[in-house]
Amino acid sequence: MPGSPRRIRIAVLYGGRSTEHAISCVSAGSVLRALDRQRYDVVAVGITPDGRWVLGSDDPSALAVRDDVLPAVDAAARPVALPGDPTAGGLIALDPAASGQGLDTVDLGDVDVVFPLLHGPFGEDGTVQGLLEMAAVPYVGSGVFASAAAMDKQHMKTLLTAAGLDVGPYVVLRAGQTLMAGERERLGLPVFVKPARGGSSIGISRVDAWDDLATALKAARAADPKVLVEAAVVGREIECGVLESLDGREPEASLPAEVTVTSSAGFYDFEAKYLSDAVRFDIPANLSEEVTAAVREIAVRAFDALDCAGLARVDVFVRPDGSIVVNEVNTMPGFTPTSMFPQMWGATGLEYPRLVDRLVALAIRRGTGLR
Ligand SMILES: Nc1ncnc2c1ncn2[C@@H]1O[C@H](COP(=O)(O)OP(=O)(O)O)[C@@H](O)[C@H]1O
Ligand SMILES: [Mg+2]
Repeated sequence: MPGSPRRIRIAVLYGGRSTEHAISCVSAGSVLRALDRQRYDVVAVGITPDGRWVLGSDDPSALAVRDDVLPAVDAAARPVALPGDPTAGGLIALDPAASGQGLDTVDLGDVDVVFPLLHGPFGEDGTVQGLLEMAAVPYVGSGVFASAAAMDKQHMKTLLTAAGLDVGPYVVLRAGQTLMAGERERLGLPVFVKPARGGSSIGISRVDAWDDLATALKAARAADPKVLVEAAVVGREIECGVLESLDGREPEASLPAEVTVTSSAGFYDFEAKYLSDAVRFDIPANLSEEVTAAVREIAVRAFDALDCAGLARVDVFVRPDGSIVVNEVNTMPGFTPTSMFPQMWGATGLEYPRLVDRLVALAIRRGTGLR
């Protein structure tokens, strides 16, 4: 189209090697649906559960949950790679050579920006961010440090505590370690046992009797040899979206939302997150003006404490006395149509397609390298 501005070439990266593969696919499906094709030239790139990169279909309906079946990246699709070499020309396809021997490489062209819609290890943890820095391709969201720091609940708590935020009592257990008697006393029952670098509540249990601790540690260690044992916080579960501002001002916080779980597990476990109706979302949360303001302020402080960029979802507990404990910071929150992050921004006046536009604009403005 003569005269029209060149479309921004965006690669949506999804799937991946983590247990949150399917969730990432569903998130990608809704982002693909929201991207305005007049403005964006979209390339979908899937990462299989064993780490192979393939060209995905950019048909969003292929990436939805159908009849309770979770989507996955199709391993038989055309292999692609993004070399960590800025002079290599961006995305390349790896096709069987005409000679029948080995692979031919086909240049698929530059990419202006990547939306790494990956959750969990090998995606949300700084690894993909490192590759994109190497390749000098701008990307949506936090850089290497913040991504890695937020993924590891031990180091996340250290940084949040250093910034003066309350994270509640906890103990870190390395492989082979268990709680000492004094630690049990300090934490008290119940406790939550969780993988240090997990997500989607996979491997998390609530322990109401010390006799059940060993089983809970085993379940958490199936995901990660390093485990956190936390005192159970009594309070309301509140989430808050944070977005970097486009004009260099303070990051902005969305209206907070509340999650109330009514299932027998009694907490926001995998089942409650993705498969059951035993959960209620109040968007925005029914909190006093004062508590709402405090949650938003703490969310921005947590974002800054970890040196986040672009976006984050900060999850907190509000105790009955109004005090706030930060539970975690997610640097690539879920983006499914029912995910909290886009819904909280919707309630704050920023609709899904505008939210995606803003994230892409922030990524391009930031570029790569030190900032
Ligand atoms: N210390 C805690 N006190 C009370 N509930 C908790 C605690 N830690 C986790 N939970 C419950 O478990 C859920 C998942 O824990 P979280 O740390 O957010 O892990 P993930 O990174 O997998 O989402 C929380 O949403 C909450 O319902
Ligand atoms: Mg969580």
